[in-house]
Amino acid sequence: MQAATSIAIERTQSPKAKPPQDQLGFGVYFTDHMFVMDYTTEEGWHGSRIVPYQSIALDPAAKVFHYGQTVFEGLKAYRTEDGRILLFRPEANFARMNRSNERMNMPPIPIDMAMAAIKALTLADQDWIPTDAGNSLYIRPFMIATQATLGVQPSERYQFIIIMSPVGAYYPEGINPVKIFVESHYVRAMIGGVGEAKTAGNYAAGLRAQTAAKEQGYTQVLWLDGAAHKYIEEVGSMNVFFKIGGTVYTPALNGSILDGITRNSVIQMLKHWNIPVVERVLSIEEIYEAGRDGTLEEAFGTGTAAVISPVGELCWLGEKLVICGGETGELSKRLYGSLTGIQYGRETDRLQWMVEVK
Ligand code: COI
Repeated sequence: MQAATSIAIERTQSPKAKPPQDQLGFGVYFTDHMFVMDYTTEEGWHGSRIVPYQSIALDPAAKVFHYGQTVFEGLKAYRTEDGRILLFRPEANFARMNRSNERMNMPPIPIDMAMAAIKALTLADQDWIPTDAGNSLYIRPFMIATQATLGVQPSERYQFIIIMSPVGAYYPEGINPVKIFVESHYVRAMIGGVGEAKTAGNYAAGLRAQTAAKEQGYTQVLWLDGAAHKYIEEVGSMNVFFKIGGTVYTPALNGSILDGITRNSVIQMLKHWNIPVVERVLSIEEIYEAGRDGTLEEAFGTGTAAVISPVGELCWLGEKLVICGGETGELSKRLYGSLTGIQYGRETDRLQWMVEVK
C-alpha cells in the first residue's frame, strides 16, 4: 500500500489559458490538475495521485448514479499581498467531510492524507490563485461510490477527488444584499434525515424551489423546518443570521442544518467582539414581527462561497420584508472586512485559522 503522504504527480503537457480575473464568476473555470485517490474495502485508501484535469470514466452502474452515495466539501485558498498562500480552516472541512461520510455510510478519509493532498494540489496549481481583491481559489474535494452493482447496499469502492476553480463572488449581486424567498411548500431536510451532511441530494432537493424563486426575482430560498414549516433552517448555499435589538440570532444546529465553518467562525468573532449571539430555534413569524416593530436591524448569510452576504429582502407567503432599507448593514460590513482580512493575511489570525501552504 502507498505511504500516506506519497503522491504521484503527472504534470499537464498543455496548460490552459487563465480566465480574466474580472470575469471569473463561481465554479466556471478549472485549474490544470486534480487529485485522485481510490478506496476498496480490501486495500483501504491507495493510489494518491495528481493528474492533469480530465474527465473521469465510470461504469454506468456505479452506485453514485443510482443511490446517491456522494459527499463534498468547499474551501478556499487565498493569495496574500506578500505572496503567501493561505487555506481557511481546512481541517474543519475534512472533519465535517468525515461526519458526512459517516451519515452516508461511506469510509472516512484520513485527515493527514487529505491535508497532504490539498497542499500538494494547491502548490501544483498555485499560479491559478487569483490576486484581485475578493477573488480566491475555490477547492472542491468530493467522494463518490464507484462500485458497479445495482443492489441497494453501501458501495465497496470509492474515489476521492479534489478539483479547484478560481472564483469571484458567488452571487451575481457581488457583495450587495440578496433577496431571498422563504419557502413554505417544499422542504429540504427533516430531523433524522441527511440535512446536515454535505451530500448532493440536499442540493438537488432544493433546485425546484430555487427555480421558482428565481422566476419571481429572488436569488435564493430560505428553508423552513420539514415538519411545521415554521422554523428557520438555512438558505440554499449559506447559513443565516438576524440582528434583532442588538443581539444576533442564528438557528441552532439540529441535525438538519449544515454545520457551517463560516457560521462557526462568525459566532466566535461576535463573541470576541462582545456582541451577544444566540443559537436557538427561530421562527419566521418572529423575524417578521421584529421587522414590523422595527427591531430587526440586519440579516446576512455565511458560507465559504457566499462569505458574508447581506440579505436585503425576504418574501414569505406573499409578504415582503425589506431589511436594513435593502442596504448592507454595519455588522455585515464589519464581519466581511474582518473575516476576509484574516483570510487574506491582512488581520491578525488570533485563533490560528489559517494554514500556510509552502
Ligand atoms: C460552499 O460554500 O462551499 C458551498 O458548498 C455552498 C455551495 C456552493 C454549494
